[in-house]
Amino acid sequence: MRALARETHLSPGHLIHPLFLVREDNKKEEISSLPGSFRQSLDHVLRDIEESMKLGIQSFIMFPKIPNERKDKTGTYSYDEKNFYLRAATKIKQEFPECALISDVALDPYSIDGHDGVVRNGRILNDETNDILARMSVAQAAAGFDILGPSDMMDGRVRAMRESLDSQGFTDTSIMSYTAKYASAFYGPFRDALDSAPVEDADIPKDKKTYQMNPANKREALIEAETDAAEGADFLMVKPALNYLDIIHLLKANSDLPIAAYHVSGECAMLIAACQNGWLDYKKAMPETLLSIRRAGTDAIITYFAKDYARMYREEELE
Ligand code: PBG
Repeated sequence: MRALARETHLSPGHLIHPLFLVREDNKKEEISSLPGSFRQSLDHVLRDIEESMKLGIQSFIMFPKIPNERKDKTGTYSYDEKNFYLRAATKIKQEFPECALISDVALDPYSIDGHDGVVRNGRILNDETNDILARMSVAQAAAGFDILGPSDMMDGRVRAMRESLDSQGFTDTSIMSYTAKYASAFYGPFRDALDSAPVEDADIPKDKKTYQMNPANKREALIEAETDAAEGADFLMVKPALNYLDIIHLLKANSDLPIAAYHVSGECAMLIAACQNGWLDYKKAMPETLLSIRRAGTDAIITYFAKDYARMYREEELE
């Protein structure tokens, strides 16, 4: 009877597995603030994708850790032909043409200031940043990424990207926009993984509050959703996920686009820490958490638990 009345289903096909790519060869390093997730070189990433696909996960989102000597004020390495992140995408799509590979479109991994936008005189320059994001997008589409993920929250970036992509013939490349991305305290382990936190300097804003959303705001997410949809987004994302289930629900009710959620590093780290302490049972708390994100209205979930969930699904350990 319980099965007959069940309302929500979550299968590995809904999940997106995050990958942190480093330039070196033969490297796999656990992220200390996010146990179970790794910075990996391309050879390990390829193995990880193969394993995940066997478990039924088809979608991957990849982030680069850029060496400091490649960082500058305007992120020029992001569209450099020799960029190892772009080359890795080409290789991944050659080996696994059937996977959906999602990129990160943002300046922060490439920026010596550690910001998603160009910084000048202590301010983030929205429109100049959009020009760079558009250029980065074309380079990523050319490298083979299927879906581009603008994670920067500049106004107008979806339109800038869509126009550049279309004009260069990349009409089939999709955009998964970080529509409602909040200036959250829960991105810590991710910034540790990529060494991408805003730099400490008097001339550089110390947080991302001038472009990421205020956690106090809800209606503003509707404005962001409207503009992203009008500019050509193919997916709308809410980030983080757990503290923002109301926002997921709101966007689902107000848009016919597929809704994605990013179950971010800090949210996963909290649960891992409690389980490591013996305070929670991972095999129960983890699936319940993912189910809640799905129940709120998501079609696609980015989570560091994707492989563990898929393994439990395969072993029929889920209720
Ligand atoms: C930045 C970006 C961030 C995350 C994804 N893309 C961090 C930030 O905005 O500072 C966070 C993801 C996570 O915490 O898991 N472009």
